[in-house]
Amino acid sequence: MQVLSVASEMFPFIKTGGLADVTGALPHALASHGIFVRSMLPCYPALKSRLSAKSSIAHRYNDLFGGPASIIEAQIEGHHLLLLDAPHLFERAGGAYGDDGGGDWADNWARFAAFARAAADVAAGEIKGWKPDVVHAHDWQAAMTLAYMRYDERPAAPSVMTVHNLAFQGRFPAGIFPQLKLPPEAMAIDGVEYFGGVGYLKAGLQAASVITSVSPTYVQEIRTPEFGMGLDGLLNGRENDLFGILNGIDTSDWDPETDRHLAATYSARTLQRRAANRRVLLDRFQLDDDGSPLLCVISRLTWQKGMDILAAEIARIVGLGAQLAVLGSGDSALEGAFIAAASRHHGRVGVVTGYDEALAHLLQGGADAILIPSRFEPCGLTQLYGLRYGCIPMVSRTGGLADTIIDANHAALSAGVATGFQFNPGSGDAIVEAVHRLIAVHRNRSAWTSLQRQAMKTDVSWNASASEYAQLFRSLVSSGE
Ligand code: ADP
Ligand code: GLC
Repeated sequence: MQVLSVASEMFPFIKTGGLADVTGALPHALASHGIFVRSMLPCYPALKSRLSAKSSIAHRYNDLFGGPASIIEAQIEGHHLLLLDAPHLFERAGGAYGDDGGGDWADNWARFAAFARAAADVAAGEIKGWKPDVVHAHDWQAAMTLAYMRYDERPAAPSVMTVHNLAFQGRFPAGIFPQLKLPPEAMAIDGVEYFGGVGYLKAGLQAASVITSVSPTYVQEIRTPEFGMGLDGLLNGRENDLFGILNGIDTSDWDPETDRHLAATYSARTLQRRAANRRVLLDRFQLDDDGSPLLCVISRLTWQKGMDILAAEIARIVGLGAQLAVLGSGDSALEGAFIAAASRHHGRVGVVTGYDEALAHLLQGGADAILIPSRFEPCGLTQLYGLRYGCIPMVSRTGGLADTIIDANHAALSAGVATGFQFNPGSGDAIVEAVHRLIAVHRNRSAWTSLQRQAMKTDVSWNASASEYAQLFRSLVSSGE
């Protein structure tokens, strides 16, 4: 079976968050189920510079949203890529969605409509010799693919719309509608219209054969007004087509036994070797070397991630005897709050701002625990990396965090099944209470080692979830959706 995956990010080419990890890992995981994925991505400069003589032009446009464009077929790092090369839209310095200052580009509506238009053309068979059996669109940047397919006269393949985060919806003013070149009837409540404007994610959710999101609990949550972000009505209307499939992780990229970013590799039997990684971290984050429990954060610094709540509790966390190493970037006010905390609590709190993949690995391989106090979390990947590295996840009980971590309460500890700590989302007191509980277990070396070993035993691979995606794709094809 052939699948077209459409997404704006993919590890190792371009990444701003977990979406890239998923779209980068899923194709390999699906291959063992006989499902072969071609991944469509915008041809950002980071990709353009990697094209070789073997890449070929598979389709050309004289004018795609204001300039010439082409679809380039390339094989890079074992991935079969279809790259939308549209220099007027994607060849610019900065990130995937905006300039380095953090602002979104004003023409993102055109960038991701063009991307979707091209993906829909691939879906319709515009590339010689290849036509997908299923189209899999990820998040709002890819969602319009399904709207273009729906209003196309050419027969459409069945489609899956995966929601990685309902908070990002791609909403634009109604004035862009004529430029999307959709038929007039598409500007309707069951089409692309959304609260008087155009909603890209909404359009994809409406047009998809089925909808998935990245954990069973998040799928239940987004059907409520509290988490539905205005789309709970639509999602409830499609409840029979809505599935939760948990993310996995790439267990070869994230393997403490072979990880080249670690000072010392280790396994569940050689946990003492983590000490060498910890020493590098203490040095890098300028923290005292006194055996205190070392908590880390690897995160976008945003409201979603509960980082304001954590920042407000640093004095109490330090007061309990823990140290904190923060790697993150995002809201400048939050960056400032963590930097101020580091200078107030010298030797107890350290901060590195920015994005650093290697340091993220080292933190998982050397810190005792990873703190994830999200207000909501569709799945979350850093707790899965934490499990695999014996870096104990401390998570709020929401979304995928609730689905992947077993709280170290008395019963779970005595049964030997605990893998981390859970606390109620949205509360500073709850975080502090969880740190308190963690410190108590950390003091008991054998209990702590058992907790780490149990965490490391958890199956965080893609095996189970890739098989769920495979089943879903096959059911769509066989039902002739
Ligand atoms: P989200 O996609 O909502 O940001 P996830 O937990 O799904 O959250 O994925 C985050 C991914 O981004 C993980 O791979 C994590 O290691 C990585 N990450 C987040 N912040 C940083 C950072 N500052 N430096 C390096 N990696 C980061
Ligand atoms: C989003 C979510 C995160 C999820 C990731 C990959 O960025 O915020 O929870 O893990 O997508 O699905």
